[in-house]
Amino acid sequence: MNRRSIYSLGSDSPISDEAIIEMINFAVKYTPSPFNCQSGRVVVLFGENHAKLWNIVKKTLKERIPADKFPATEKKVDESFASGHATVLFFEDRSIIKNLETSFPQYAENFPLWSEQSSAMLQYVVWVMLEDAGFGVSLQHYNPIIDVEVGKNWNIDPNWKLISQMPFGMPTAEPGEKQFEPLEKRIKIFR
Ligand SMILES: Cc1cc2nc3c(=O)[nH]c(=O)nc-3n(C[C@H](O)[C@H](O)[C@H](O)COP(=O)(O)O)c2cc1C
Repeated sequence: MNRRSIYSLGSDSPISDEAIIEMINFAVKYTPSPFNCQSGRVVVLFGENHAKLWNIVKKTLKERIPADKFPATEKKVDESFASGHATVLFFEDRSIIKNLETSFPQYAENFPLWSEQSSAMLQYVVWVMLEDAGFGVSLQHYNPIIDVEVGKNWNIDPNWKLISQMPFGMPTAEPGEKQFEPLEKRIKIFR
């Protein structure tokens, strides 16, 4: 498996946007969720919508970070995210989680955790499917500081909690070398 975080993206695509949408539909439909509640929600931004998201990120960061640090941040957003083909936004529908908390009070404190875990599975499925199709992908977390602007721009249901942003595009550089902890420290086998 070649999945890595890719921070150098071009805007070309190895497959059609229709094929991308089909892949994302498949992932959303079949990824498991607690009690099969299907709380995962996804918004896919192509073209101007993709560009708009990363402009929102830049504008929001500009208001928050020192002026002398902003050019490096802007370069990163432009070359690692905005330069890509599209972005997937992942949400969880809090109204579904709240209903589960009420209906199954004995598990109430687990549902928000399971909701995040289920979203993580969905994000991973989409990540590897995109990678398998030839895209470079990374996972970003500019929420919650962009939540209000995102909600306004794409008319997002207020129950949808933004979890992450996944920009993807044609990989234009190899990922850096990755360090691994010894597996003996992380896995125990009994047989
Ligand atoms: C839950 C989670 C949150 C992450 N958040 C970010 C993030 O906000 N920005 C980012 O650039 N990478 C993020 N990453 C990517 C990790 O930094 C990356 O997966 C890790 O360093 C291993 O590198 P690899 O993806 O190339 O294997 C996140 C990964 C996970 C699993």
